[in-house]
Amino acid sequence: RTIYLSEYRVPAFLVDHVDLRFELFEQGARVHSTLDVRRNPDYPERAEHLELDGDSLRLEAVSLNGVTLEADHYQDQGDKLVVLSVPDQFQLTVVTWIEPQNNTRLEGLYKSSGMFCTQCEAEGFRCITFFPDRPDVMARFRTRIEADKSSYPVLLSNGNDIERGELADGRHFVTWEDPFPKPCYLFALVAGDLLLKQDTFTTCSGREIDLRIYVEPRNATKCEHAMDSLQRSMRWDETVYGREYDLDIFMIVAVDDFNMGAMENKGLNIFNSSCVLASPETATDASFQRIEAIVAHEYFHNWSGNRVTCRDWFQLSLKEGFTVFRDAGFSADMGSPIVKRIEDATLMRTAQFAEDAGPMSHPVRPSSYMEISNFYTLTIYEKGAEVVRMIHTLLGPDLFRKGSDLYFERHDGQAVTTDDFVRAMEDASGRDLSQFRLWYEQAGTPVLTVRDEFDAEAGIYRLSIEQSIPDTAGQTDKKPQHIPFALGLLGPDGEAVPLRLSENEADAPLERVLELTEARHSFEFHGVQTQPVPSLLREFSAPVRVDYPWTREQLLFLMSHDSDGFNRWDAGQQLAVDVIRSLMDGENGAVDERLVDAYRVLLNDPALDQALVAKMLLLPSEAYLIELSNDVDVQAIHEARTRVLDHLANALRDDLLACFHRNAGSGDYQLTPEAIAGRSLRNTALAWLLHIGDQEACTLAQQQFDVAGNMTDRLGALRALVNSRFVAEREAALETFYQCWEADPQVVEQWFSVQAGSQQSGTLEAIKALLQHPAFDWKNPNKVRSVIGVFAGQNLAQFHQPDGSGYRFLADQVCRLDDSNPQIAARLVSPLTRWKKFAQPYCSAMKEALETVRAKDGLSKDVYEVVHKSLRP
Ligand code: ARG
Ligand code: ZN
Repeated sequence: RTIYLSEYRVPAFLVDHVDLRFELFEQGARVHSTLDVRRNPDYPERAEHLELDGDSLRLEAVSLNGVTLEADHYQDQGDKLVVLSVPDQFQLTVVTWIEPQNNTRLEGLYKSSGMFCTQCEAEGFRCITFFPDRPDVMARFRTRIEADKSSYPVLLSNGNDIERGELADGRHFVTWEDPFPKPCYLFALVAGDLLLKQDTFTTCSGREIDLRIYVEPRNATKCEHAMDSLQRSMRWDETVYGREYDLDIFMIVAVDDFNMGAMENKGLNIFNSSCVLASPETATDASFQRIEAIVAHEYFHNWSGNRVTCRDWFQLSLKEGFTVFRDAGFSADMGSPIVKRIEDATLMRTAQFAEDAGPMSHPVRPSSYMEISNFYTLTIYEKGAEVVRMIHTLLGPDLFRKGSDLYFERHDGQAVTTDDFVRAMEDASGRDLSQFRLWYEQAGTPVLTVRDEFDAEAGIYRLSIEQSIPDTAGQTDKKPQHIPFALGLLGPDGEAVPLRLSENEADAPLERVLELTEARHSFEFHGVQTQPVPSLLREFSAPVRVDYPWTREQLLFLMSHDSDGFNRWDAGQQLAVDVIRSLMDGENGAVDERLVDAYRVLLNDPALDQALVAKMLLLPSEAYLIELSNDVDVQAIHEARTRVLDHLANALRDDLLACFHRNAGSGDYQLTPEAIAGRSLRNTALAWLLHIGDQEACTLAQQQFDVAGNMTDRLGALRALVNSRFVAEREAALETFYQCWEADPQVVEQWFSVQAGSQQSGTLEAIKALLQHPAFDWKNPNKVRSVIGVFAGQNLAQFHQPDGSGYRFLADQVCRLDDSNPQIAARLVSPLTRWKKFAQPYCSAMKEALETVRAKDGLSKDVYEVVHKSLRP
C-alpha cells in the first residue's frame, strides 16, 4: 500500500495527555496507557470511531472513562484498534503485552545487551501501545517505569524525574514527566545497569543544566569526547542560532544494537554506541569527528525537530535537512571548513547523485512512500541540507538568521511543513522563493552545461549556462530551478579578475553568486584583458553537476592558483578523473606526468594548508568514478585507477617516504585540523607505499602498528598491511589486533571493516569466513554493516564479480535478515538496485539477484518497496 502526501488530513482526534506505566519483566512487558482524548475541532466532519495504530501488540484490556469496554465496543484489527462510537472528550486506557526480549526489528521497545531501550521514530511507538502514531498528534507524557531493582537500577524517560520508590519483590519505580507536548516518535525509555558520567552546562540565561551520559560500566572511559561535544554544541546553538536548552536535564544513552546512528528523543537522546563512545586508543579521527557531528545533530534537533516538528513524514527533511545544515555549520566552525565542505560535497556527488538517478529517487519532499523507514535517505538528509544552504547563500547570513528566528518563534510547539519553513525565510527577508520551492518538489540532479568564449578585442568574457533536469522515476519534463551559482575568474598569474557585468561598473566584486532561474542564461564580463580561467560553482554552491570542457592545463592552473580552496581540490579530482578515464579509453599511453608533478608539489610544499593537501592527495574513489560513468565496467575502472595509483606511488616513492617521516606522530593525541591532517598524510603515504609492495614501508607499517598510541595510526598501519601483498605480515597484524581488542565491540567492528573492504583479503570466500567468526552477530546491525555492508558498498572490485557470485551472496544475506530486521535488510539491498547502470554481464546478474529477493516468502514491505521499485521497467 502506498501513502500519498495529497491524502493528508488533520487528525480526527487529539491527545492532550498520555499517562504510561511500564511493568518490565524478563518474559515481557505490560504497558498501561491512559490517553486524554478529544475530537479535533479542525477536522472537517464528525468522526464516529477512534482509530489507534498498533503493531505486534497483544491487547489485554480497554476501558473508557474508567469503565471496562465489552468486546463489542471495540475492534482489534491487529494494526488498528477501533473504539466504536466515542464521546467528544474522554479518557481511554489500553493495556498491552509486548515481548521486548524477542524484538529483533529494533523498533519500539527492545533489549540490547541486557538493557531495555526504545526507538520510536518513525513508527515504532505503535509497537509499544495503541496510539495515533503520527507526528501531528502532540501530547504531554508522564511515564512510570517499574522493574527489578538489581538488574535495572537506572530507569529513564523524557523530561524530569518527579517520583521514585520501592515496590514488592525487589522491584522499584521511577516516574518521569515531560512538560513539553511532543509527538510519540520522540518518546523514549531506558532501563538498565548503567554507569553515569555527569557534567553541567550553564545556559546563556544562567540556568544550570544537568548533563548525563549513561553507558555500560566497561565504557566508562569513553564518554569524555561526547560530553565535550555536547557542551560545545549547546554553546554554539546559543551563539549562532540564539537557541537555549529548555529542560533541566539532558541525557545521552549508548546502546550496542541500534538500526541507525542516534535518536533525538526529547531530553533523552539514544545513541548507537559507535556514534558516541570514543577514546584515542579505540577510535579513529574519523569517528571522533563523526561523534562530534552526531552529538551536535541530535542536540540541535531539540529545536529543529522537537520544539518545531513535522506535520507528517513527507516533511521529514524539514527537521533533517535543516538539522544537517546546522550540524555542518558547527563542524565547520570546530575544525577545517574547507575539509568539511569537501567531505559533504563528496558524499553528495558520490552517493546522493547516485540515489537521485536511481530507481529510489525522490524529491526532498517526497509525494508518496510505502515504508517511511526507507526514506531516511541521502536525499532527505544531505540534499535537504544543501537546499537549506542555498537559501542561506541567497539570503546572506543575517537575513537567514532572521528567517530562522521567525520560523522558531512562529511555529514553536507546532507540527509544520517544509513550505512553512520557506515561508518564514521569505517573510523575514522579503525575497520571493516561489521558484526555489521546486528544489523540494522535483527529484533529480540538475545539469549545468557551461560554455565560454573570450572576445579579446572587446575585452569581454562570455559565459553561457544551460540547465536541464533529467527525468527520474515517475517525474518528467521538469521546470528550471532557482540555482545560486558562485564563480570567479582567474587572470594569467592566478589573480582574481573583477567581475564587471556592465562596462563601467566600479568596484566590481572578485566573486559573484549568479542566480540561475531560466533554462538558458548568458553573462558578459567586461574589461577582461586576457583569456581568464573560470572557477565554477565555488564551494559547491548548489547540488548540481557542471559540464564544462576543461583542459588539463586549466585544471592544473586552478589546482595551484584558485583562491577557493574547495575548487583547488575539485580541479585536482577532475584532473585525476580525466587521467584515469583516458587509460580506460584504451589510450594505452602512460599516465600524464603532469599529474605526478602536481602531486609532487602537494607533497613537498609545507606552505600549503596541510588539511587541504591531505584531501587533495586522495584519488577519486571507485564509487565516484562509477557514478560518473554509464554502462559501467567495474573491473575496468578498478584497473585503471589502480594503474594510476601504482604509477604515482612508484614515481613519488621518496617523496612519500619523506612525507611519512615528516608527519611522524608527536606523542600527545590532538584533534586539531593540523594534527588530523598529519595523521591522514602519514597514513596515505603508508597506504600508497604498501600498495606498490615497498619493503621499507612494510617495516615502517609494522613498527607503527606496534607502537601507535592512537587508533588512527594503528588502524592506518593495519589497513595498509591488509591491502598489501605481504600476506604473512598482514595475517600476523590481524591476529594481534583481534587478541588485543576482542572485548571491545567498537574496535572489533573496525577489524571486520578493514578486512571486508580489502582488495587483497576481502574476497567472497574471506567474507563468508568472517560471517562464521565468533564475534560476528546477525542480531547486531553494526556487525552486519561492518562485514556485509562494507563488502557490497565499498569493496566494489570484489563485490562486482562477473560471475555474479557477489550479488547472489548479498541476495542471500538480505533474505536472511529480512525475517529478523527488515530495516537493515532494506538498506543492505541497495548496491543491487542500480543494475541498469552497469554493463553486461554485471547488469543481468544483479537483476537476477534482485529477482530472487523478490521471490522470497513473506517479504517485508521495507524490502519489497526497494526491490519492487528497482525492478520496475
Ligand atoms: N531522527 C534520527 C536522526 O537523524 C534518525 C532516526 C531514524 N530512525 C529510523 N528507524 N528510521 O538523527
Ligand atoms: Zn536527524
